[in-house]
Amino acid sequence: MEFPTKRMRRLRKSPQIRDILRETRLHSSDIIYPIFVSEKLEGGEPESIDTMPGQYRYSVDDAVSEASRLEDEGLSAVLLFGMPSTKDEFASSAYDPDGAVQRTVRRLKEETELVVMTDVCLCQYTTHGHCGIVVDGEVVNDETLDVLARIALSHAEAGADVVAPSDMMDGRVAAIRRALDDAGFSDTLIMSYAVKYASAFYAPFRDAVSSAPAFGDRRSYQMDPANVSEALMEAELDLKEGADILMVKPALAYLDVIEAVKDRFRVPLAAYNVSGEYSMLRAAIDSGYLTEEAIYESILSIKRAGADLIISHFAPELLGVI
Ligand code: PBG
Ligand code: ZN
Repeated sequence: MEFPTKRMRRLRKSPQIRDILRETRLHSSDIIYPIFVSEKLEGGEPESIDTMPGQYRYSVDDAVSEASRLEDEGLSAVLLFGMPSTKDEFASSAYDPDGAVQRTVRRLKEETELVVMTDVCLCQYTTHGHCGIVVDGEVVNDETLDVLARIALSHAEAGADVVAPSDMMDGRVAAIRRALDDAGFSDTLIMSYAVKYASAFYAPFRDAVSSAPAFGDRRSYQMDPANVSEALMEAELDLKEGADILMVKPALAYLDVIEAVKDRFRVPLAAYNVSGEYSMLRAAIDSGYLTEEAIYESILSIKRAGADLIISHFAPELLGVI
């Protein structure tokens, strides 16, 4: 072929040409905003989170007003995390019908049109900080399932559209599905943290909600960052158990995993742009090393890899540009 019959730069000729040829687009309906609600903040001001500049712990009232302010800017969905005023060995405060998450869900369903999702786990509610019941220093699987089902049910009763178990116990999707169906909540969706790695990128979150384990680590339940075949097995099992949406977490260091899960299963897929991914970019931007444009580019890469939904602390920044 004679040079230069094919000139790739024609495809980038003008903003309009670039716009009509753009292959991937972020839309505000792709984005889910995680919100921290603290029972201890009743009537108090939002508390800034040291390890996540720009993010706050909110009282129920402030969580509701922040969520509805963002709804006015185009947000479609939120994911709620609770901080209780009391913890015990069995995470009993996690299924309190008047807990911070349950009350926030009720208010959001009354006052907004947002899709309301809730994180279902034990770690913020247990004195030992593990995601399951601990017996003789071990996180025990099957005994944890009942507690997870109770938590999920209390969120569904409050009106949650989607419950999202993040504990990584085996069989929890089936246990939650059964409990929801038995209680008449067959329309409540389950978004499973199916592929959740034991990641150093969760550190700012654990600081934010005081959920770091008091002993040991989470490697006996969260996945080894080196594994991708295992991710496909996890995804397959959760689908069989009845998960409606799968999730890969973290996102940026696991784009290959997002792509593999999407390619294999072709089901609704979420990816969690976790606290550490937020804080590292935020720190670089706040120091002047990077510009805010790096946010859009990073989140776009998660969509390009195959995620349909992206959970991100950058939601407020993104809503301004998508
Ligand atoms: C706990 C939970 C974690 C996150 C969501 N749910 C952290 C962990 O496993 O320790 C991570 C969120 C983030 O880092 O943004 N079940
Ligand atoms: Zn947990």
